[in-house]
Amino acid sequence: MNRRSVLKALGGAGAAALVGVPLLDGLRGSGSTGAVLESRLRRPKPFQLPLPIPPVLTPVRQDADGDHYEITQSAGTAEILPGVATRIWGYDGMFPGPTIVSTSGRPTTVRHRNALPVPVVVHLHGGHTPASSDGFPTDFVLPAGPVPAHDHGGVVTHGVRDYVYPMNQPAATLWYHDHRMDFTAASVWRGLAGFHLVRDANERSLGLPAGDREIPVMIADRSFDSDGSMLYPSLDPTLLHTPGVTDTYRGGVLGDVITVNGAAWPVAKLPRVRHRLRLLNGSNARRYRLSLSPPGAGFVVIGTDGGLLPSPVRRDTVDLAPAQRCDVVVDFAAFADGQRVTMRNEFGDDGTGQVMQFLVSGTTDDPSRVPDRLAPAPVFAAPAVTRTLHFGLGAHNTWKINGRYFNPARADTTPRLGTTEHWQLTSDFDHPVHLHLGHFEVVSRGLSGPGANDLGLRDTIDLRASEQATIRVAFADYPGRYVFHCHNLEHEDMAMMGTMLVT
Ligand code: C2O
Ligand code: CU
Ligand code: CU
Repeated sequence: MNRRSVLKALGGAGAAALVGVPLLDGLRGSGSTGAVLESRLRRPKPFQLPLPIPPVLTPVRQDADGDHYEITQSAGTAEILPGVATRIWGYDGMFPGPTIVSTSGRPTTVRHRNALPVPVVVHLHGGHTPASSDGFPTDFVLPAGPVPAHDHGGVVTHGVRDYVYPMNQPAATLWYHDHRMDFTAASVWRGLAGFHLVRDANERSLGLPAGDREIPVMIADRSFDSDGSMLYPSLDPTLLHTPGVTDTYRGGVLGDVITVNGAAWPVAKLPRVRHRLRLLNGSNARRYRLSLSPPGAGFVVIGTDGGLLPSPVRRDTVDLAPAQRCDVVVDFAAFADGQRVTMRNEFGDDGTGQVMQFLVSGTTDDPSRVPDRLAPAPVFAAPAVTRTLHFGLGAHNTWKINGRYFNPARADTTPRLGTTEHWQLTSDFDHPVHLHLGHFEVVSRGLSGPGANDLGLRDTIDLRASEQATIRVAFADYPGRYVFHCHNLEHEDMAMMGTMLVT
């Protein structure tokens, strides 16, 4: 099926059932567009499983061309709920995948093998990546065996593909995840996501908490079937033919179990010293407002999507829309020995209102610090062009940008390499808008300046319902064909994506 016939088929199936489907079911005021998918087994008591730390991937080779890695995408089994085995799809069979650590300026090549029964596409989210390795949604890596013909005009490989990342970007928390057209949401839900960290000399010179005092925290909601398998309302569970989810979930799929690094409501035991938490919202549609209870000294925000802030900012709460990152330092010396500190989600309910727990235990030396100056402030040139983009509901189960569905063959925007642009974004519902390639800064929201959570360089803006925001983005890196889209993954799969042809 091509894109048009897919949309037609959906229209036929979905039109009648659409009327009256709530888009903000049970989550009024939280800003998560979507509906809660209830698990069919009893949800576990929180704070039983230890917080898993994804292993750091070892390069297979390091040479003059940089660091070379290999990952096989395959099915695997994980203990996400205590004592329950759940089948997942993962990078090296793990959820989250192994963490890749790159050095700024040193190229990283990742050879992905596809041992899954579906085509895959890998995108390094937040990466300044040449178009050929950015994971355009139709650049499929097909499974090694026979698959139904999928030709959407992308650059297709069979079984394996090398993604080459120049890594010409400062220290930042990036992540990699599946990006196949029409099926990203279900594939990421099954586990295809992992951290990719970039380090640089400036960051190393700062003395931030490091080693086991630097903790990646991938927060992702999920739902489970009675047998412990993951529940997801795909129209086509083979993830091969018909894209999309059942009507109830057209606004987004919200899980009722909160996982961190692949474990439901885990607990981390750690000493009373400063820790750096690399927070990532890896959820399909859920939005979080994180806080600590008791609050202690709160969060010291040191970085966001694009890297370190010019200087640290203290906050009691941190909002994270899907795909956003926030790099924070928490000083656990502010808590008593033996204290249990809960990271809460103020947008959640009984279950989803809790994320994880820290058990503060023991006092040791703390050589770390958080300097007042972290990184140079980004400089943007005066914008050459202003574009207006509206993110809104389409017909039936779909979503549109400026009234159009995603069409990989069309150029929706044509930025010129070496220029800066203003993009004015407007929305109907909540849409976390993500641009590939270039990081941006938020210039304004409505008539005011950037919001409290718009700190630093971003690649994803938490665009709220009926809001207008302006971002400033520089197209400084590479020419070629890229995408921008809503990172509510159900919206993305349902056509809320556009292309940028940088020339
Ligand atoms: Cu995180 Cu285009 O994606
Ligand atoms: Cu991206
Ligand atoms: Cu959206």
